[in-house]
Amino acid sequence: MDHPPSTIASGVPGRRIDRRAPRETRRRSRQRPSLRPPVSSIPEELSHAHENPLCLPILTSQGLTKRYDSSVAVEGIDFEVEPGECFGFLGPNGAGKTSTMKMITCVSPISAGCLSLFGFDAAARPREVKRRLGVVNQRMTLDESLDVAENIVVFARFFGISWAEAAARARALLAVIELKGRERDKTTNLSGGMQRRLMIARGMMSERQLLVLDEPTIGLDPQARHIARDRLRQLKRRGVTQILTTHYMEEAAQLCDRLLIIDHGRVVAQGTPRALVEEHAGREVVEIQALDEVGATERIAAALVSSRDRFEIAGDRLYVHATDGEALMHRLCALAAPIAGTMVRRATLEDVFLRLTGRSLRD
Ligand SMILES: Nc1ncnc2c1ncn2[C@@H]1O[C@H](COP(=O)(O)OP(=O)(O)OP(=O)(O)O)[C@@H](O)[C@H]1O
Ligand SMILES: [Mg+2]
Repeated sequence: MDHPPSTIASGVPGRRIDRRAPRETRRRSRQRPSLRPPVSSIPEELSHAHENPLCLPILTSQGLTKRYDSSVAVEGIDFEVEPGECFGFLGPNGAGKTSTMKMITCVSPISAGCLSLFGFDAAARPREVKRRLGVVNQRMTLDESLDVAENIVVFARFFGISWAEAAARARALLAVIELKGRERDKTTNLSGGMQRRLMIARGMMSERQLLVLDEPTIGLDPQARHIARDRLRQLKRRGVTQILTTHYMEEAAQLCDRLLIIDHGRVVAQGTPRALVEEHAGREVVEIQALDEVGATERIAAALVSSRDRFEIAGDRLYVHATDGEALMHRLCALAAPIAGTMVRRATLEDVFLRLTGRSLRD
């Protein structure tokens, strides 16, 4: 059974020096004025700056497993998250992403395997882990008894932030997420997207060492998604490590340094977005729409693709992954095939996702 989310202990993250960061990154971080309080102004017991001097992984997972009564949601996954990176989880509905996030945030017990965060065993020292985390859950967890501004301010108080600072942060954040003027509204009077924006603002407010975001931008309009992504990039520049799940492939490609694709609770691929595309989808994709005739797509595939080509058939469409799409189009023109239309485009992360996890719907 899952544990309810626990009360958040106080703590403020300190500035961390990434000894392994590339020289450019170090130079940039020297030039950019930090918006965080200097480490020296943070009380010693609240500062985490001394905790990772060797820049070991922030998180290490070995054989991480989650079993519910009759099913296995996560089946022995291994991964590491480096300090300062944005690490993404992709996977179809029911793949085990939220179950993994819940184990990371210590609200759901680990069934087997080892999970260590900030050098602490998550199973043995959940309080130590939780006090270093900011979380944006997939499910709506706003407090309906509080108004919009109070949802941020009261949450900030859990993190040991003073009333005055909490109110100032709430004002600034509400302006960023364009909820200025709605401070005294009940959260139930906000639209679904507005509630989501408030959840994101609340999760980002603490600026802890690690921010765990389970589908943060779900249900947001394009404008709000852009604002949220900008904000996440800003936090990353300030050294906040992020673990993120999303179903928006362009978001994963834009935000994440590395990705883990899981399906049925198992890792099917991991790497940088670019490496995943190169390895699993090639450079270009030729999309061919077949005429509305029985077996037309299969006939085109048989005539066009060789055993070396990677391709998929989905209904009346044939997707061929090619290093040179134009050359394939020339071959296609020479065929008397039952074709209704064609398109050549760059391969994307979505091609990788569909290739590795299939095109059929999940339960
Ligand atoms: N509390 C629970 N009790 C029993 N089974 C659960 C529980 N929570 C999740 N599951 C099951 O575990 C599997 C993985 O669910 P999970 O929520 O981790 O998927 P997900 O990858 O986050 O999916 P989505 O993209 O839809 O959010 C599913 O089969 C789900 O039904
Ligand atoms: Mg989920």
